[in-house]
Amino acid sequence: MPDVKVTAVTPDTAIDVVGLVKRYSNSPVNAVDGISFSVRRGECFGLLGPNGAGKSTTIGVLTTRIRPTGGSAFVDGVNVVADPVRARSRIGVVPQRNNLDRSLTIRQNLLFHARYHGVPAGQRNARANALLAQFALTDRADDKPDRLSGGQAQRVMIARALMHSPPVLFLDEPSTGLDPAARLFVWDRIRELAESGVTILLTTHDMDEAETLADRVGIIDHGKLLALDTPQALTHSLVGSATLDVVVHFDGAFPSSAQASARPSPTAEISPRPDGDVLAELGQLDGVVRVERIAPDGPGLRARLYLTGDPARLVAPVAELVATCGGKLSDVRLGTPTLEDVFIHLTGRALR
Ligand SMILES: Nc1ncnc2c1ncn2[C@@H]1O[C@H](COP(=O)(O)OP(=O)(O)OP(=O)(O)O)[C@@H](O)[C@H]1O
Ligand SMILES: [Mg+2]
Repeated sequence: MPDVKVTAVTPDTAIDVVGLVKRYSNSPVNAVDGISFSVRRGECFGLLGPNGAGKSTTIGVLTTRIRPTGGSAFVDGVNVVADPVRARSRIGVVPQRNNLDRSLTIRQNLLFHARYHGVPAGQRNARANALLAQFALTDRADDKPDRLSGGQAQRVMIARALMHSPPVLFLDEPSTGLDPAARLFVWDRIRELAESGVTILLTTHDMDEAETLADRVGIIDHGKLLALDTPQALTHSLVGSATLDVVVHFDGAFPSSAQASARPSPTAEISPRPDGDVLAELGQLDGVVRVERIAPDGPGLRARLYLTGDPARLVAPVAELVATCGGKLSDVRLGTPTLEDVFIHLTGRALR
């Protein structure tokens, strides 16, 4: 019987990660702790997670910079551990930190990269000119990197990564630290690339970025993938159509049991821990589907209420209830559920 070659990828899979583990030698825990996901060709996939979640480590393995402890990873059908040289020819990498060659001009950075990747000499200049124009860098082509702003340097790094026309592009936090205009410019270029058929894996701790750019989002925390779906499906998986953020402060004097029993509430007892009480009481209000404690807020607490119906209608009852619990409502904010809420729901804390 002929040998059957088993590959982990199908023709329309651009990135395939199976049970990936990375433990750094000086660490007692896994930085990446058994994550699996696939990215389709032409898809823009976002890894969303807070600092230290394992995003850069995952990208490091997929781009052959970091050797995994376990599991497997394929990019464009190439096993990144077994065949790193071939894998590198298939990918463009925009790292989290500026790693431009400071001794070369912007144009030379692009040309050097193209030569390294074997782009024929006759094509390099034209390719560099096209990318310099696409990234609005033509007038900076002869500058050295240390004369560039953060946003310009980021654009150079994306242009450089595209010099050898890779089918798969990795962007590690492409807009962190950029001002709003620079961020929108980078977003537009990323969208253009996705529309031109480039497969994109980007990492971010910015839910807006993930929601805006990514076809599907993987939520990552402590090296584990907690959820993976389209932004819409992830947010719709939460109950409620609106949110109400409340900040409650306590002055130290909590209501007595006698006062507590006078409240118009089904739960009569009040404990010495007013935070938990308030949260439980808020959860009982008509129209409140769920309550999540987001963070302690000084002497008080910050919570998010997930609601059905009009959130403004609930402000007065919430304020009244908080007052009966001995607290004071010091801030109220209305919103709609976002990926941040999915993260809070999964981990019990805010993204940042
Ligand atoms: N070279 C290293 N040696 C030891 N531990 C490391 C190393 N690089 C990263 N780590 C640790 O691995 C974990 C994951 O780090 P990683 O850089 O992958 O996170 P991240 O999601 O990219 O975070 P950020 O949003 O801050 O960039 C962290 O706990 C980090 O401290
Ligand atoms: Mg990182």
